[in-house]
Amino acid sequence: MIVTTKQLFEQAYGKYAIGAYNINNAEQIMGLFRGNIQSQAPFIVQISRGARTYTDKQLLEDMICAADKIFPEAIFAVHLDHGDEETCYDCIESGFYSSVMIDASSFPFEENIVITKRVVERAHAKRISVEAELGQLGGVEEDVGVDEDRVHLTDPEQAAEFIKRTGCDSLACAIGTSHGAFKFSGSQSLHFEIIEAIRDLVPGFPLVMHGSSSVPQEEVERINAAGGMLKGARGVDPKQYLPAAKRGVCKINIDTDGRLVWTRVHREYFRDHPEVFDFRPIGKVFMEEYAKFIASRNELLGSAGHLEEVRVVLSR
Ligand code: G3H
Ligand code: 13P
Ligand code: ZN
Repeated sequence: MIVTTKQLFEQAYGKYAIGAYNINNAEQIMGLFRGNIQSQAPFIVQISRGARTYTDKQLLEDMICAADKIFPEAIFAVHLDHGDEETCYDCIESGFYSSVMIDASSFPFEENIVITKRVVERAHAKRISVEAELGQLGGVEEDVGVDEDRVHLTDPEQAAEFIKRTGCDSLACAIGTSHGAFKFSGSQSLHFEIIEAIRDLVPGFPLVMHGSSSVPQEEVERINAAGGMLKGARGVDPKQYLPAAKRGVCKINIDTDGRLVWTRVHREYFRDHPEVFDFRPIGKVFMEEYAKFIASRNELLGSAGHLEEVRVVLSR
């Protein structure tokens, strides 16, 4: 069942975070749905602009529709990740997405407000939720690299004003994370003080954490042992997910960790089975491993086990 992110956040706020997982192909979709059903969690299927053009946006939509039928128990939102204005309108008009992200965070504050407000008006007319972004994360978004000296943590006062003036439903904040597998050089933590300051100014408003992959060191070691070159890769401490959720972070974005599962499975499989040239045996291993990974993340986010409760509330 496809629901809006707003509906999911209303139930999760202050208790747990919903996992937002990026998908690109059939194997990821199967693993994602299996993992969420195994762990009995509501979730967000996240589609980037790159994912929409990797094969074809229509193919992705139809595969998600098929998964909805194969797993009738599943409760999830379909969300555009890091959309520009044009892509947001395409998704809003498609009638398929229940949520879009307008990422105008690279524009000056006032321009970000104007663009976000335009998208909010179009989306809300169709009952679609809108995530916006204020502040800038480091790392790589789509094909745009953000230099470290351009990273700006979100200013809480500005965030409160932005939320009020745009009418957005959730806000992605820069709180010390970055996209990709190389997040931190030293010992760093999330900026809980920023999350708390925004929460105190706008109580009950759902915040979003991008760049949340934990880059498990065991995964990195296995990838490197099988020929990979990911020395120094580091991510967010997953023990910080739940404390962030308790302070109002309702959506936690995880993409890189799923790519690491894919990389480990494929590197090890081809190393151990040099005679194989069939994609199905390895695809099966990946789907199983990805499902296990999703279930384990949902435990850390606190969303595991909440599926039935969400269903009961939504059916009232
Ligand atoms: O924030 C970006 C996500 O990890 C999606 O990555 O744009 O390469 O699909 P992508
Ligand atoms: P990671 O690169 O940490 O997985 O972040 C993903 C993300 O924020 C997608 O929008
Ligand atoms: Zn992101």
